[in-house]
Amino acid sequence: MAREAEPSRILIFGGTGYIGKHIARASVAFGHPTCIYARPAGPRTKPLNLNLRREFRSTGIRIIEGELDEHEKIVTALKQVDIVISALAYPQVPDQLKIIDAIVAAGNIKRFVPSDFGCEEDKITPLPPFEEFLEKKRKIRRATEAAGIPFTFVATNCLAAYFINVLLHPHNPHDEIVVYGDGEANAVLNYEEDVGKYTIKVANDPRACNRVVSYRPKPSIISQHQLISLWEEKTGRSFKRVYVPEEDLVKLSQTLPPPENIPVSILHSIFVKGDLMSYEIDDDDLEVSTMYPEMQLTTIDQLLNIFLTDPPEPARAAFG
Ligand SMILES: NC(=O)c1ccc[n+]([C@@H]2O[C@H](COP(=O)([O-])OP(=O)(O)OC[C@H]3O[C@@H](n4cnc5c(N)ncnc54)[C@H](OP(=O)(O)O)[C@@H]3O)[C@@H](O)[C@H]2O)c1
Repeated sequence: MAREAEPSRILIFGGTGYIGKHIARASVAFGHPTCIYARPAGPRTKPLNLNLRREFRSTGIRIIEGELDEHEKIVTALKQVDIVISALAYPQVPDQLKIIDAIVAAGNIKRFVPSDFGCEEDKITPLPPFEEFLEKKRKIRRATEAAGIPFTFVATNCLAAYFINVLLHPHNPHDEIVVYGDGEANAVLNYEEDVGKYTIKVANDPRACNRVVSYRPKPSIISQHQLISLWEEKTGRSFKRVYVPEEDLVKLSQTLPPPENIPVSILHSIFVKGDLMSYEIDDDDLEVSTMYPEMQLTTIDQLLNIFLTDPPEPARAAFG
């Protein structure tokens, strides 16, 4: 009973990752006893990852070192927490079946948030390479449901700094900016720090139990043309817009070898078809900004200012 009044204890897989670090930072900032389950640090661990581990320890985040196939170790870790969030890298999405098995064995987990952090995969049908990518994530959703684990599935849409790097190349500015399709489709770009905060909030929120939560705040909705115009205003420059028509993206998705056929299919889904805004959020599902109207978001305008002064790091691999 005593635990009910205390902040939930959160375990994060992939907490040293591109989005995982923002989730871990938000978790500890909101006062949750937080640990991450990470591979043992060794000579091949990147300096960025080692720095994060130092930062995490200094803020009270506990690091449990282990591999994903160490079932007993994971079960033991799970027994000490209430909520599990996975932000594992895309290639490790199928490995989350091991986390699901361990959650079932532990028997105490009140919420599982698997590594989605993208589009609402149950509501869209993109080109085949992206469809196959999403099918792996859908399998984890279905396995979570079948195991009877309380869940929240998050459709965070585009991670904003990640996609601004892909679209505008602010680190390496050219005179030209590529526009996919006609540039008019609305996308949704949510700043990574806000995604971290929202994810901790929904993972703890009884309203989000066994629900899909879409992250679609109005200030995050923007087309490519609007984004480029805003960047032109900020930089005082004028960029030539070079169009890649839909048929070229479709052809590339059919001719490029995997996995290079995936990014073009993602660009087609988001920026040509407008998939992120193509579905209604129905009665069963939730929209995050209406759940927490008090939360101050970083707008795209503010994020572009950050790019001008202190640019966020580009992602390790595009569409990881
Ligand atoms: N919507 C978007 O715009 C967008 C953009 C990027 C990614 N995503 C999605 O966000 C999720 C997380 O992606 P990310 O880019 O943040 O991941 P990431 O940084 O590439 O990796 C996350 C963590 O996964 C762990 N990991 C990597 N390789 C592993 C392995 N072989 N075995 C075990 N663990 C391993 C690492 O943790 P340790 O080193 O601590 O073990 C790593 O820090 C994915 O579902 C991805 O599809 C969405």
